[in-house]
Amino acid sequence: MASATAPGKVILVGEHAVVYGRPAIAAPVWQVAATATIAAAAPGAGCTIVASDLGQALQLAEAGEDEPLAVVARLTLARLGVNSIPDWRIELHSDIPIASGLGSGAALSTALVRAIFAQLDRPAPPAVVSELVYESERFYHGAPSGIDNTVVAYGQPIWFVKGQPPQPFTLAAPMLLAIADTGIRSPTVLTVSKVRAAWQQDRARYEAIFDAIGDLVHAVRSALERGDASAVGSLFNENQALLKSIGVSCDAIDVLVNAARTAGASGAKLSGGGGGGNIIALVEPATAPAVHAALLAAGARRVIVTAFGA
Ligand code: MEV
Repeated sequence: MASATAPGKVILVGEHAVVYGRPAIAAPVWQVAATATIAAAAPGAGCTIVASDLGQALQLAEAGEDEPLAVVARLTLARLGVNSIPDWRIELHSDIPIASGLGSGAALSTALVRAIFAQLDRPAPPAVVSELVYESERFYHGAPSGIDNTVVAYGQPIWFVKGQPPQPFTLAAPMLLAIADTGIRSPTVLTVSKVRAAWQQDRARYEAIFDAIGDLVHAVRSALERGDASAVGSLFNENQALLKSIGVSCDAIDVLVNAARTAGASGAKLSGGGGGGNIIALVEPATAPAVHAALLAAGARRVIVTAFGA
């Protein structure tokens, strides 16, 4: 019997532009998680993957190439030199809401990959886990940058540029985030393809916006490294304005972002694909309770207050 856990994630800055080669910063969120547990099944039973929270149960031998969990399980077994399907029952659980910008797909796949490594008594280096999970991310995101699988597999704040090894980095001081769910499910694959279609129509405009987002991401990194929360907050606000200009915000996001700012957050923005999902607000210990209450009063389904870089 083996089990493994993987965290949710937030993109602090740089979503969407990261798909077009600009940097982005992401951090894990340990308050929400996915877990995979593997138990031996009767000989000849084959491998069943049960994700009861998603209402899914599949037989690995029969699942098609359009089943991300089956694809990642097969790739992982092949990577570990297992050429026949083992007799296992794999149970997956997650309290990360799907299609909400918190990396639910990456977390489920990461927990699954790690549990398979553990069941076979093999160490699971983050780079290898991340590479395997990327293959399932293609189903959720279309043309993913790879940031979600990377931050979830490494489990620490990262500086990420597509196609390059991630750079884990250290903050001068931990920062506090309020993460609030609009309750609107918005699959990342849809917002990523919407942005791609608009970029194809007007590349010059979109490239200029992505450049501006890339500049912001550099500025956030230096503000995080010198512990300047107020600068990080202002940069969050600037990033939100640019994300709005490419059409990935929505009324529910705008309402929560404004509620957080009015209640004292130093900045707030959508996080992840947008179109719904979660927003993040940078808060201080003194402002966190008021921001938390204001977000709930403004309609947030759930608010998590978490430190990152601790
Ligand atoms: C999703 O968490 C982040 C996006 O930039 C998509 C991606 O990077 O693959 C929207």
